[in-house]
Amino acid sequence: MSKDLRPETRLVEAGRRREWTGLGEGKGGIVNPPVWRASTMLFDDIAAMEAANPPRDGTLHYGRNGAPTQWALAEALTEMEPGAVTTKLYSSGAAACAAAILSVVDAGDELLVVDSVYGTTRAFCETTLKRFGVAVRYYDPLIGADIAGLIGDRTRAIFLESPGSNTFEVQDVPAICAVAKPRGLPTLIDNTWATPLFFPAIGAGCDLSIVACTKYIGGHADLMLGAVTATESWAKRLDQTSRMLGHAASPDDAWLTVRGLRTLDVRLRRHQENGLAVARWLKAQPQIARVLHPALPDCPGHEFWKRDFSGATGLFSIVFAGGDDAAAARFVEALDLFGLGYSWGGFESLAIPHKPTRTASSNDWEEPIVRLHIGLEHPDDLIADLEKGLAAYG
Ligand SMILES: Cc1ncc(COP(=O)(O)O)c(C=O)c1O
Repeated sequence: MSKDLRPETRLVEAGRRREWTGLGEGKGGIVNPPVWRASTMLFDDIAAMEAANPPRDGTLHYGRNGAPTQWALAEALTEMEPGAVTTKLYSSGAAACAAAILSVVDAGDELLVVDSVYGTTRAFCETTLKRFGVAVRYYDPLIGADIAGLIGDRTRAIFLESPGSNTFEVQDVPAICAVAKPRGLPTLIDNTWATPLFFPAIGAGCDLSIVACTKYIGGHADLMLGAVTATESWAKRLDQTSRMLGHAASPDDAWLTVRGLRTLDVRLRRHQENGLAVARWLKAQPQIARVLHPALPDCPGHEFWKRDFSGATGLFSIVFAGGDDAAAARFVEALDLFGLGYSWGGFESLAIPHKPTRTASSNDWEEPIVRLHIGLEHPDDLIADLEKGLAAYG
């Protein structure tokens, strides 16, 4: 596929190789790669079996090493990150975060992790990583180039997530990468919120870009899948670590994810439009102190969103002006169009109260925070629903 194609066109074209969609010569065949469901794969003879080793994408070997359904998704995700050479798939976004981290650290190292990191990644760092002798130090999401002051002899890698989970601080990713690169430190980023469509993280200087495809790329709240896309420098370590941990992505979920990927652009633009309409309305309500939406000036790091991102998605938080947890619970429970549940990125709206666990941030909010995912419903209907919630908040 031509590297000159625009991202919207790459979303449509990527991963649709003839050998994965067609039965013979010419242009005939199906449009999207089908589900190849397999554990055992058969070889013509011993020579063919030996030629398939070591396992690699694009050569049938054994179910864990994938088949055209997974390879098509991996190739398409690589195409969405100019400068990347490979993508590995996992059974969840959490597995992708853990595998990416394990690919870059060794016992005795220290990992710098953004304080606004997703909770399960933080828990992984606090438990498994520490158990294997890797120290973890959290840094303020707004630290920027001052991260240089935290780098010591043992520092081995920097983990970013931008915007941060639930509090949405946007990081100065290029500044952090510019500090890391000359010191030989890999940068890993959880890029789930923006997806590579709105923020191609590898192009911004990151070495490993992680996406929980469970969210926007799948887009329909019906699958679990994670991906890590890497530069040449880290491709081998990522591949080896992922294989040694036995990771595999289900062909059915990979197929659904490719299906979701094709419409990512139109869905994200509608999430953006609806999200901003609702966010701006909320900002004008007396019960709301701040709207933590990367595309609005209230959000810490908004200037980096403006500089680096080509769009905003539908996930943001509101900080109430006073009130308590019971009021936040009344707000959420009074909503009909917003479901109460984990995850986000599907076509439907969600609302969930949140208490940040922060140890190194300049931003801390005592007041209740509720995270909203704005789906594809009409924003006026969502606003009418939120009016009911605010009336219940008191
Ligand atoms: C920012 C972020 N990263 C990673 C994950 C983990 O993804 P998964 O639920 O697919 O394990 C989540 C899940 O909510 C998330 O919000």
